[in-house]
Amino acid sequence: MTDYLSSKVAIVTGGMSGIGKACATALVEAGARVIVADLKATDATNIDGSLVSIPTDVSRPDECSALIRQALQQFDRLDILINCAGVFADYPALEMDASNWRRVFDVNLHGVFFCSQALKSNPRPTDGIKKPEVFL
Ligand SMILES: NC(=O)c1ccc[n+]([C@@H]2O[C@H](COP(=O)([O-])OP(=O)(O)OC[C@H]3O[C@@H](n4cnc5c(N)ncnc54)[C@H](O)[C@@H]3O)[C@@H](O)[C@H]2O)c1
Repeated sequence: MTDYLSSKVAIVTGGMSGIGKACATALVEAGARVIVADLKATDATNIDGSLVSIPTDVSRPDECSALIRQALQQFDRLDILINCAGVFADYPALEMDASNWRRVFDVNLHGVFFCSQALKSNPRPTDGIKKPEVFL
């Protein structure tokens, strides 16, 4: 596992908290270099050389494309995308107003699509890997 991941570069959306943070930490521990893409990431700060944060709103296609471009500039390859950015409305769906309903779909559904599509349209073949692996 460590050998397999040591040459890999991963993007983890929503990696500042919860499931995404746990995924980012596990990937770094396994030897991967990780880009955390999160609304809460304040700057493209190189935390320790193997963990970098890039502020991103995954509900915006332009920001997803910029994320992929910036990540490729920094690491020159991308192998893994883990889509963990998400919002949760802690009350019944039928009590949600329209803007909150739309926000859930914009982030949780469309954000996965925009990030995955941005990555797919920017593949950079390396080490015989023709396309990045996408984890939803
Ligand atoms: N934790 C659970 O047990 C659980 C179970 C089922 C489903 N989920 C869902 O999985 C998702 C993640 O859960 P979690 O517990 O890690 O949540 P969390 O709130 O701890 O983390 C979500 C992260 O996503 C980021 N984020 C939110 N909107 C964003 C956006 N537009 N662009 C980029 N980043 C954004 C937040 O800043 C945060 O860092 C949520 O949608 C949640 O509802 C969680």
